[in-house]
Amino acid sequence: MWNSLVTISVLSSVLATAQASPKDDVARIIGGTDAAPGEYPYFVQGPGCSGALIAPDIVLFAAHCENLFLNQQLNVGGYRIDSDDAGAQPRFCDVWISDDRFAAFSLNWDFALCKLDKPITSLENPKNIGVALNFDDTVPEVGNDLWVMGFGDTTPGIYSSPEIIQEVAVPYVTNEVCNDPFRYDGLITDQMLCAGFTEVGGKDACQGDSGGPIVLRTTDSSNKVVDEIVGVVSWGYGCAEAQFPGVYSRVSKGGDWIIDKTCNELNGNADFCPFPPQLEPECLDGNELIVTVKTDNKAKHTNWKLFDSSGNVLKRRKFMVNNFEYEHSPICLKPGCYEFEIKDKKNNGIAGGFYKGEVNGEEVFFGDGNFGQFGRASFCTDGTPQPTEPPLVCVDRKQFCSKLENVKNKRRRCRKERNGTKIFNLCNATCAEVGVGPCA
Ligand code: ARG
Repeated sequence: MWNSLVTISVLSSVLATAQASPKDDVARIIGGTDAAPGEYPYFVQGPGCSGALIAPDIVLFAAHCENLFLNQQLNVGGYRIDSDDAGAQPRFCDVWISDDRFAAFSLNWDFALCKLDKPITSLENPKNIGVALNFDDTVPEVGNDLWVMGFGDTTPGIYSSPEIIQEVAVPYVTNEVCNDPFRYDGLITDQMLCAGFTEVGGKDACQGDSGGPIVLRTTDSSNKVVDEIVGVVSWGYGCAEAQFPGVYSRVSKGGDWIIDKTCNELNGNADFCPFPPQLEPECLDGNELIVTVKTDNKAKHTNWKLFDSSGNVLKRRKFMVNNFEYEHSPICLKPGCYEFEIKDKKNNGIAGGFYKGEVNGEEVFFGDGNFGQFGRASFCTDGTPQPTEPPLVCVDRKQFCSKLENVKNKRRRCRKERNGTKIFNLCNATCAEVGVGPCA
């Protein structure tokens, strides 16, 4: 996460406790290179944080990224920034949960999960790279090189994202070494893992890489490459500083939580769950709205919201992937009327794009990209809403409501109720003609 406050508070405590003084010259490159297309099919690009696809519908990321992913477009298999190049598949984060043991002051237990709106059913994986969570506390070990990747800063302290995903290999560092008094001096907990060049620095993850995986690349018995996710990018003192390795949440320690939440709370479709996911409830006698939007080349400026007739937001989505047409997962609506609102925060619409809504397969709204700041559409589901009350036939008018000018009299004489509303609250003047409504 960019400029995480959390990181800053950790850094100040490091400064207070560590003996080493940071070098003035921190502006060296972090030492990554462009990854090859298809190298990290499980990598998930988010806005300011990343993640890893650990099941077709579940993304692992960092709790300190907070709700940055919620209702946000993510790019599974992201290779070129904000683009579906190399088979990247955009999805949306529908539900977000973070480890309730997460402590913002220490960044202990820095784990979070996101459930995708639609599972990834055909992962583009030309190199046939497998991915697995590491549940073994004895992995990694001294001598292991770990790979970390992302779209974070390539120069410490300078906010700029590379065009192509960067990768770098860094050696595992034991917690004991990482906790040396001249290093993190006790700030590294059992739930953390360090990796970096402790003597020379120069290679590391950095701001913007948070939440992404650090992996141990292995080959299984059939020679298939399997990346074991051993950590989640969490924090560090600066980036690529000698003596200050990158700090990751240790996945073997978060494993129980990850399994429990994926299987029992998010109803994830993971191979590590002891039972298959439950079927999602069907949209029984409701109406299924499918929204489709094609973004322009500045997708991050665009979002949409769906309101019910009382103005409550039922769904919201923020985009990230440019020039991409996305069919959102169906929204089950009760019979009634709704408003759809798409917004471009730079007030210039979505050039070359469009938005549309279909209810049960029938188009209920469509707009091209020339909407300036807002594109709006109102629609009602099939047959429009059932009137909530049957129309009133005003038979009682003469008997109970003839002297409404006199308030006292009105109350005394109009004590009758209709559908829970006292007749004296109803409008005499319009009663007989248009039915009963509250007096204006
Ligand atoms: N907290 C940072 C973020 O939110 C990640 C920092 C990683 N730092 C490091 N030196 N490895 O993006």
